[in-house]
Amino acid sequence: MAQIFPKKANALPTLSLLGAVGGGVLSILFVWYYFSPEYTDVGYAPEQPVPYSHVLHAGELAIDCQYCHSNVEVSEHANIPPTQTCMNCHSVVQTESERLEPVRQSWATGEPVEWVNVHQLPDYARFSHAVHVKNGVGCETCHGRVDQMEIVKLAEPLSMGWCLECHRQPELYLRPNEQITTMGYTQTADFVKENLQRIKNESIQPPTNCSACHY
Ligand code: HEC
Ligand code: HEC
Ligand code: HEC
Ligand code: HEC
Ligand code: HEC
Repeated sequence: MAQIFPKKANALPTLSLLGAVGGGVLSILFVWYYFSPEYTDVGYAPEQPVPYSHVLHAGELAIDCQYCHSNVEVSEHANIPPTQTCMNCHSVVQTESERLEPVRQSWATGEPVEWVNVHQLPDYARFSHAVHVKNGVGCETCHGRVDQMEIVKLAEPLSMGWCLECHRQPELYLRPNEQITTMGYTQTADFVKENLQRIKNESIQPPTNCSACHY
């Protein structure tokens, strides 16, 4: 059988050439990946496999965000609801709807619906939903008026500067914990004073040191 590398000595330059080509491809991938709209463009709103509407469900039907995104208070990641959550209602509501066909199929096969990710920080940045939600940062502050989005779009840049703007002056952004999922929340007249008091009482200190957010 013909050997691919007849002699060990010859393999080395070939391998390092392959390495160099691979490296080039990788750095192109890196640039493509990190600078693709997913990471940079406010307004990024990919099409989803099911025309699920937050306007209808979170707005008109006023289903609380946490009914579906039930992990936000306990986990780093907010979850996309499993098909079961949809079927709690859609096994009796709109059972013939064509638009719900992929959901029924997922229910029948056990294969999850392939929702397209909208928000994605680079791997080198650390973020936890639970910490923010429990310290008075509302969904709306970071995700905008989701209840008015037919298709979820990126409302804020999620850039380092954006994170730090709040970490340096959290008193401008916090709201009472019972208002975390409220959409269209209006701050009280005295909110800065109240927030400063809360920040002191609960010693809320968003970090600004590099290692808090970077691995
Ligand atoms: C009935 C279930 C349901 C409710 C209630 C709900 N969502 Fe969602 N949410 C979904 C589903 C399904 C997706 C994935 C499809 C999509 O992006 O539209 C999603 C996606 C999202 C995303 C984008 C996730 C990503 O891919 O980055 C955000 C942000 C979000 N929801 C926030 C909210 C907020 C804030 C509320 C409350 C105002 C809320 N949702 C209420 C089901 C729900
Ligand atoms: C609490 C109940 C409830 C839950 C949970 C729920 N829905 Fe709905 N959904 C409704 C109601 C009510 C309607 C509107 C029915 C109507 O207009 O006749 C609807 C309508 C829809 C429609 C439009 C159907 C059409 O043909 O007009 C889609 C698509 C949809 N839902 C997707 C989902 C998905 C995906 C999930 C899970 C992430 C979900 N829903 C979870 C209650 C729910
Ligand atoms: C301090 C800002 C902030 C707050 C507050 C916040 N989010 Fe997020 N959310 C983000 C960031 C940043 C991401 C991307 C996270 C990643 O890539 O690891 C994200 C991602 C998501 C996702 C996609 C799944 C995931 O974890 O990557 C969903 C769904 C979501 N958020 C829902 C919510 C809901 C619902 C609330 C309110 C209960 C909320 N978020 C509050 C910043 C926030
Ligand atoms: C609107 C305000 C706000 C925004 C925007 C925000 N944060 Fe925070 N962050 C906070 C608050 C408040 C805390 C809680 C501080 C505490 O626990 O004392 C916090 C805490 C943290 C912590 C410490 C977590 C821990 O385990 O103690 C990290 C890491 C962090 N944020 C990362 C981020 C990143 C990354 C972003 C941007 C993608 C971001 N934050 C955006 C307000 C914000
Ligand atoms: C509050 C959280 C937070 C802190 C503190 C923080 N960073 Fe970041 N940093 C981020 C996030 C989030 C990104 C990703 C931004 C993006 O995707 O656009 C990032 C991106 C970066 C990048 C990539 C280049 C860029 O600008 O996109 C570098 C380099 C970096 N940070 C260095 C640092 C250094 C050095 C420090 C300390 C002086 C620091 N960071 C502190 C959250 C933070």
